[in-house]
Amino acid sequence: MKKLVFIISFFVIANIAMAQIANDNRIAIIPQPVELHSTEGYFKLPQQITVAVPNIAESDFLIKDISKHFAIANRKISTTSKAVIHFSLNKVYDKTLGDEGYSLTVSRLAIQINANKPAGLFYAEQTLWQLLPKEIESKNVVKNVDWKIPCVTIKDYPRFAWRGLMFDVSRHFFTKEEVKDFIDNMVKYKYNLLHLHLTDDEGWRIEIKSLPKLTEVGAWNVKKVGTFGNFSVPTADEPRNYGGFYTQNDIKELVKYAKDRFVNILPEVDVPGHSLAAIASYPELSCTAGAENYKVRSGESIMNWTNHGFTAKVDNTLCPANEKVYDFLDKVFTELAQLFPFEYIHVGGDECAKNFWAESASVKQLMQKEGLKNMEEVQSYFEKRVEKIVESKGKKFIGWDEVLEGGLAPNAIVMSWRGMKGGIEAAKMGHEVIMSPTTYTYLDYMQGDKIIEPPVYAILRLSKAYQFEPVPDSVNEKLIIGGQANLWTEQVYNNRHLQYMVWPRAFAIAEAVWSPKSARNWKNFEKRVETHFARFDEAEIKYAPSIFDPAFDVTENDKGELKVQLSKEVDDIDIYYSFDNSYPDRFYPKYTEPLVVPKDASYLRVVTYRGNKKIGRNILMPIAELKSRLPKKK
Ligand code: ACM
Repeated sequence: MKKLVFIISFFVIANIAMAQIANDNRIAIIPQPVELHSTEGYFKLPQQITVAVPNIAESDFLIKDISKHFAIANRKISTTSKAVIHFSLNKVYDKTLGDEGYSLTVSRLAIQINANKPAGLFYAEQTLWQLLPKEIESKNVVKNVDWKIPCVTIKDYPRFAWRGLMFDVSRHFFTKEEVKDFIDNMVKYKYNLLHLHLTDDEGWRIEIKSLPKLTEVGAWNVKKVGTFGNFSVPTADEPRNYGGFYTQNDIKELVKYAKDRFVNILPEVDVPGHSLAAIASYPELSCTAGAENYKVRSGESIMNWTNHGFTAKVDNTLCPANEKVYDFLDKVFTELAQLFPFEYIHVGGDECAKNFWAESASVKQLMQKEGLKNMEEVQSYFEKRVEKIVESKGKKFIGWDEVLEGGLAPNAIVMSWRGMKGGIEAAKMGHEVIMSPTTYTYLDYMQGDKIIEPPVYAILRLSKAYQFEPVPDSVNEKLIIGGQANLWTEQVYNNRHLQYMVWPRAFAIAEAVWSPKSARNWKNFEKRVETHFARFDEAEIKYAPSIFDPAFDVTENDKGELKVQLSKEVDDIDIYYSFDNSYPDRFYPKYTEPLVVPKDASYLRVVTYRGNKKIGRNILMPIAELKSRLPKKK
């Protein structure tokens, strides 16, 4: 009997220990895995960790990467087939997991990882780091940490094959090491596509050996500091020594660095607009007389933007009626195709001003000869020729959604940025699409109110980015091959600010492109984001704390008084405010309803707290600024 009681109690206890833990606050993985079951207990890191990896070339990198991480925990690793951490490739292909999925089981005694392909092992590794204490993100050895991993079973695979981040290295040049840093961070969140925007008006960033002036001339402008777009026009005596480019060896190194981490690099050469750096190098590519005086842009104003469209003040377009342009592009794409193994090349196509084309005798002649009715058809003629060149190099053509205008090239893949509309249209025509709409995925936009954020022309808060859904109703979802967030760098001058702009919104987009749609849950995500902020603190990676700051809405009541409504992205914080020019803290009035601005107030100051801990930034909002935001009276 005693024995029976013992056996029964053993199973009861074991069962309790095995019980699945709902909402386990030990675990905060981004992007949210497809299936996750946690149980009580931990795998404690032994001093000497044995690891087994498959006998494949990719394991060299895997071992190096694992060793590097465990070194932070002051652990040594050795490889052996009888290991506590086991990475295995499936003998039979598991269709659910696909090429990038994995399963991961952490028990008290061992860790077992399975995948069909090496990429899956790599993503399992990323998940494993997120299960370890945040100190694993440190750059130095950290002692006195209880190094343990919660017991968990995970089955995980991506929703989309294309999980992209675009990095504009043209507007401001970022070094090879900074690009590597970018890759290091993106793979932690299971992005697999780095789109490098390599050329624009402000710089040509890749060595093309047959066209040396592109980097001798085109990679350099005048260093200006302040608000890009309105800089003074450079004078002849200001040195053109700001910028840089990647040599072909640099590119090979980056391609290898990315490949080791299962990232493809998509090169973009943005034509026919955004091409001032190319024209400053080779003025004969322009339709416009006087192009030999053009210079690489240094952030001075070169376009007129209105609500109805735009024109160029300086002709920053390649001439579609000039055969030399196609010879030039042939040379560029020949070298690009040799450098980048990825099967696609991005050719830009966005924001091409047509006002200089409209004045050009050679464009008029081309229109007559080819029967082109308008400037959109002229661009379409150009894009179709470019597609042929790209395809002649064995690559597929991708363009921004403007390439739809005037007729889409036959095999073009469309990257939809002006909302989802272009993507929907292209998919309806049977073309593949990558969704990267400004409305959800533009990482250059401000993350909160412009009174506190570095100024840019639009706002995209994290909660809005988190609503990104790449597949619109009404299209064949198979044609939406993925989604992408874009970091334009006009206003991004250095790597720290780059990090600030990318994170946390790239968490949101990572979840949109990896996790199942049904897993989307803002409150749960927001809590996980805060956990990852703590990890970034360890890693000393900058991020925007804007979710802790309120948004301001202003109206006028019927008495003509100004009313301010403050709204929060995070529920469990409180807003305190003052109108008396002193700094509010949590002993000041708490915001509970829209505020009527006192008649003589000059400033509204606000700050947020969670409990008794200050969490938001000190915001100083001039009342005059609020007044200027009222809808204009008719
Ligand atoms: C773009 O944002 N101009 C593609």
